[in-house]
Amino acid sequence: MPNRVADALGLSPIKALTDKEFAAFQRLIHTEVGIFLSDVKRPLLVGRLTKRLRELGLGSFSAYFAVVKDDAAERQRMIDAISTNETHFFREPKHFDFLTGTVFPALAARRTGKGERRIRIWSAACSTGEEPYTLAMVLLEHFAPADGWEIEVLASDISTRVLARARDGLWPLAKSGEIPQAYLKRFMLKGVGDYEGKMKAGPEIRRVVSFFPNNLLAETYAVKGTFDAIFCRNVLIYFDTPTKLKVIEKLLAHLDPEGYLFLGHAESLVSLGGGLTRELHSVAPAIYKLGPAPSRRHR
Ligand SMILES: C[S@@+](CC[C@H](N)C(=O)[O-])C[C@H]1O[C@@H](n2cnc3c(N)ncnc32)[C@H](O)[C@@H]1O
Repeated sequence: MPNRVADALGLSPIKALTDKEFAAFQRLIHTEVGIFLSDVKRPLLVGRLTKRLRELGLGSFSAYFAVVKDDAAERQRMIDAISTNETHFFREPKHFDFLTGTVFPALAARRTGKGERRIRIWSAACSTGEEPYTLAMVLLEHFAPADGWEIEVLASDISTRVLARARDGLWPLAKSGEIPQAYLKRFMLKGVGDYEGKMKAGPEIRRVVSFFPNNLLAETYAVKGTFDAIFCRNVLIYFDTPTKLKVIEKLLAHLDPEGYLFLGHAESLVSLGGGLTRELHSVAPAIYKLGPAPSRRHR
């Protein structure tokens, strides 16, 4: 808000963000979250933090910086304020076609023994939940718990604000247009009364999805075991190359040897110039598997 507008509203003015202050926030955010805010993101930082400075009665970004440096809860609020959380159900639909057309038949063919009917997928930057609930819908459509299948979708994000919304599993009804009719009818509830105009995740998909906070930059991740697929889409794009490499290495430690890594379509590994210690090959746009490409094996 420009200061003259703030004056007119009787609010105390906030000093304009200086280059030095911006550089300090850039460094802190890069270290904490991995996101590098380039100079063009300066208005975004000001826009998203100004309201909070006002709530705290602070007159400068330096004063706010002093607070976030020492206060983990406030740092989390800042992360919530600056993270970009855009997401959709069935985003990048070809990925879900690949799951149902290639990954699922292979899993069904492999997991035939007693006690083997278990599938685990991790949505590692899940935002408000559309991605993990989409995964739950396609999984349950193809692997019925009544046939002995155990389905687990883990979903994490750094932002506690989006995780709370994901757990609520409540969206404007307009979002229903993103979901194919058959899935919508089976898995979503249409709000009535107080929930008029809203759509809610139904119990079948809620049962298989669990949400937890996880920073992709953390030394160790809050997950155990390996996954048949890891979705880490539309988040690496905010990281610099060394951070991307570190994150992918850590995700791969949680990928089943036969598992698949799904990235966002703008996040091809080609741009990383082969800096990974483990070999990966591409099986479809932005989908990767461990090991050399089949054409390069057994030479
Ligand atoms: C644009 S959304 C992508 C959501 C979903 N994966 C999709 O493709 O629709 C990016 C998400 O990454 C999360 N994020 C950003 N930095 C992160 C980090 N260091 N660790 C975990 N999540 C992070 C943000 O909070 C945000 O919810």
